[in-house]
Amino acid sequence: MRTKNLLIVSLLSFLFSCTEKPKPSILPQIIPEPTVIEVVASDFVLNDNTEIKASDDFKVSSDFLKAYVSNGSAIRLKDHSGFNTISFEKDEKILNSEAYKLNISENEIIISASTDQGAFYAVQSLRQLFPASFENGTFQENQVAIKGLSIEDEPQFNYRGMHLDVGRHMFSVDFIKKYIDALAMLKINTFHWHLTEDQGWRIEIKKYPKLQDIAAFRNETLIGHYSDQPHQFDGKKYGGYYTQEDIKEIVAYAQDRFVTIIPEIELPGHSQAAIAAYPELGCTGEKVEVATLWGVFEEVYCPKEETFKFLEDVLDEVIALFPSTYIHIGGDEAPKTHWKACEACQKRIKSEGLKDEHELQSYFISRIENYLNSKGRQIIGWDEILEGGLAPNATVMSWRGTKGAVEAAKQKHNVIITPTSHSYFNYYQSTNADEPLAIGGFLPLDKVYNFNVIPKELNKDEQKFVLGAQGNLWTEYIKTSEIAEYMAFPRVIAMSEVVWSKQENKNYEDFVSRLEWFHKRLDSLNINYANHLYEVEGELISNNKSIHYKLQTLTKDKVIHYTLDGSEPELDSEIYNESIPIPTSTTIKAAVFNTKEKLGKTFSETINLHKAVGQNITISKEPHRAYSGSGARGLINGISGSNTRFGDKEWLGFWGEDIEIVIDLGEESEINSVETRFYNGKGQWIFAPEKLEIVFDDNEPETVLISKSKDLLVDVIFEKSTQVRFIKIRIPNYGTIPDGLQGAGNKAWTFIDEIIVN
Ligand code: ACM
Ligand code: ZN
Repeated sequence: MRTKNLLIVSLLSFLFSCTEKPKPSILPQIIPEPTVIEVVASDFVLNDNTEIKASDDFKVSSDFLKAYVSNGSAIRLKDHSGFNTISFEKDEKILNSEAYKLNISENEIIISASTDQGAFYAVQSLRQLFPASFENGTFQENQVAIKGLSIEDEPQFNYRGMHLDVGRHMFSVDFIKKYIDALAMLKINTFHWHLTEDQGWRIEIKKYPKLQDIAAFRNETLIGHYSDQPHQFDGKKYGGYYTQEDIKEIVAYAQDRFVTIIPEIELPGHSQAAIAAYPELGCTGEKVEVATLWGVFEEVYCPKEETFKFLEDVLDEVIALFPSTYIHIGGDEAPKTHWKACEACQKRIKSEGLKDEHELQSYFISRIENYLNSKGRQIIGWDEILEGGLAPNATVMSWRGTKGAVEAAKQKHNVIITPTSHSYFNYYQSTNADEPLAIGGFLPLDKVYNFNVIPKELNKDEQKFVLGAQGNLWTEYIKTSEIAEYMAFPRVIAMSEVVWSKQENKNYEDFVSRLEWFHKRLDSLNINYANHLYEVEGELISNNKSIHYKLQTLTKDKVIHYTLDGSEPELDSEIYNESIPIPTSTTIKAAVFNTKEKLGKTFSETINLHKAVGQNITISKEPHRAYSGSGARGLINGISGSNTRFGDKEWLGFWGEDIEIVIDLGEESEINSVETRFYNGKGQWIFAPEKLEIVFDDNEPETVLISKSKDLLVDVIFEKSTQVRFIKIRIPNYGTIPDGLQGAGNKAWTFIDEIIVN
């Protein structure tokens, strides 16, 4: 019976549809990778006879699909077709509310889920089986073949987030919607909206008009990088804010895409703009300006009753606008300088029986938590909220590595993982010199992709407190939406797979091939993604004194051409087939080509075959696992690190540790100098040491003093002509970061580059 019906339906659909065959369906290249996907034989053809059948339970997801088809093409769906249907079906057996099944066969597409949200994610997968031209309404044909397949899919983490700082730079309502749209496409369910900063307050609060008139605007903005000296400013007033009407519109837009917006109202730190508007909220009562420089500022809220009244009023308006259970209250980088000198603060410490200013911060956060809990909301805070004791119900967002997450999870608090090393998309993503100016650091796509969210230190029970992870986009150096897109994409695409896909399904090579395909969709969506897929990566290989250089590129079916004479590689330059012997110091230039043209940028590496290259090296401590570069050998591989990106393969990072490095030259050798350099990015807590010691064989140690510098790079050159086999270098850590500087009170990082022995 069933077979016969199917036959009639097939026949009818053949007669009804166009006489021409549709173009072949596209192969599934879905991002994030689904849990299980199986391709079946026949395609589904969507055309003017297709009907979308959905009950009100699936209103959002089915409306999204209808709009996608009608905005994407001239195809007009039928209200009642009787055959060739896309059906939304409720399946209560699907336990995860975000999970779905998608079955595509010749005559029907069935989307099953227990919720509209699960069905929405099925639609996002289905969407990626449509030609990219649907994204901008340029699909020309009147039918489209959709690959026959079946998918069963569910997320690995409930919290899948992306952040945006609008305090340092602000973006239009349309851009915020575009951002949310892209997140939804990637099945990211949370938008963490960082709304208040030292440099600008961006949310309308009706009860406090000076937040709009004063706190929302700064007089000028820093030009160039913070570490460029002297600081120069553009002299132009900058600012604005989102009205409550804007926010309602954005929240509703996000709800239609199952994106929860978590607003962040920073306290007690990063609040100089609010204090500029209402000086009585600070400890000194003195008038300050909205900040024009980046960094950490000493103007923090004073924990007095009128401050709490102000914050509760602000939060009342915030929770009326945002339905999210979570409200992010910041809590990071709040210097205690003013609190130490403030009579009201010291009185509060006494009257509440607190030990110190850290416990005062904890008191501050707990009071705000209490208030928000009384309104049915929960708080998230950056990991500094651990200091002085966690508020009873707080969720911790771990950014200074994952230590805070481990500590909080062991205290049975929920955590969200966003370490600078893997989640800060404001860091550079390529070593190319022409990248847009960024804060520093180096976080390439593969490092994001290979991020393992669960910290190793947690046992099975503790792991349950890990809600998920997110990417962060801080915008000190992101002035335009084009640059915001460039920094976020494709790293957020990698992050979507980190938080959604099963660990055992993840494969970087496969991801890259899907991403190359996904570029077409991003082009159609007019998203200004960074494309570093057509670049060359190099690696020096040394064994038994033979030194070779290996080149590779990420995508398939491409050719690498290279030169060794400093000239630009062209289509007729040497083709790379196997690792290149390097008998002398040289510069390799290489680029990726297809059969017709150069695709990516020219890669250039200068190899300096100094006396330590290819010899043995040991370091008394392992580099930090987030900054282990290419290991100890990377310090004597003939290649220096980037001048601006301390997280690349060549730099090694150590956190708070003294280290001892021993280089064995294999035999007594004549040398004239030992050189190295340290990174000195104080904004990232990285400090060059103040001195080091060098020991040649069994001789007395010699101390090399390193002068204090504001420069980002500090060179150390020790000249001595001698015969030596073992060179020992002892490098003490800078120590604790002094008051008044970013990261004060924390251990400093040491970052060391190539050790050049001439
Ligand atoms: C942060 O990056 N200050 C959370
Ligand atoms: Zn005070």
